[in-house]
Amino acid sequence: MISTDGPETVPRARPAATRSRYRPRRIRLRDGREVTLREIRETDESEILEAFERLSDESRYSRFMQHKKRIDPAALERGLHPRAGLDFVLVATTPAQDGIDIVGAAQYLPSQSTDARACEFAVTVAEDWRRTGLATALISRLVRRARRDGYQAIEGRVLASNLPMIALARDMRFDVEPATGETGTLLVRRALMAGAAPARRRYA
Ligand SMILES: CC(C)(COP(=O)(O)OP(=O)(O)OC[C@H]1O[C@@H](n2cnc3c(N)ncnc32)[C@H](O)[C@@H]1OP(=O)(O)O)[C@@H](O)C(=O)NCCC(=O)NCCS
Repeated sequence: MISTDGPETVPRARPAATRSRYRPRRIRLRDGREVTLREIRETDESEILEAFERLSDESRYSRFMQHKKRIDPAALERGLHPRAGLDFVLVATTPAQDGIDIVGAAQYLPSQSTDARACEFAVTVAEDWRRTGLATALISRLVRRARRDGYQAIEGRVLASNLPMIALARDMRFDVEPATGETGTLLVRRALMAGAAPARRRYA
């Protein structure tokens, strides 16, 4: 859903110097389990790769809209080094024997659509952590952060067959419409006007 190449010109995002860091927090999911939400770190590389390996082919296809055996190295590099004020990458972690596992991730970067004031997002939740409200919690935070970064809309491209993501988008008051010129793809989009009502927050 997120393309690997960013536009040459970037939108008028908030200057990096004025952007506060996201404060890590623990949240309780609907099934009682807890995760820590925090910004991605450079040292997360191996955990991101492991999380990708744990995903089924179907989940990878839903997320990347193509069959992927491995993460594109350039996209991984970009994901590990978000540009302050433009990109945002949030991970959900849980303790594991080797330290942590990443069980969810969501990100945005400037959209490549014609609307330079929009950012484009993507989200993935590990299979055994779904239907707990984790994606909702991640996207709620993206929405708030994107608004603070000065974006006026947040959007994403979703396969028309991706019923969970379409249901989630509708649940979070995104508009859902066919993506122009892309058969089988939908555009989910939500305006981020200052002062607009926040996303529905049922969890944490
Ligand atoms: C889409 C995805 C992110 C949803 O994650 P999730 O953590 O399970 O979502 P939530 O628990 O926050 O679900 C919120 C709502 O979305 C809808 N929803 C989520 N999964 C659904 C499913 N399988 N079937 C129907 N509705 C679903 C429901 O309305 C749900 O609310 P409810 O559980 O109270 O009924 C997850 O399935 C996923 O990672 N899929 C693979 C990657 C992908 O497709 N990413 C999106 C494109 S980038």
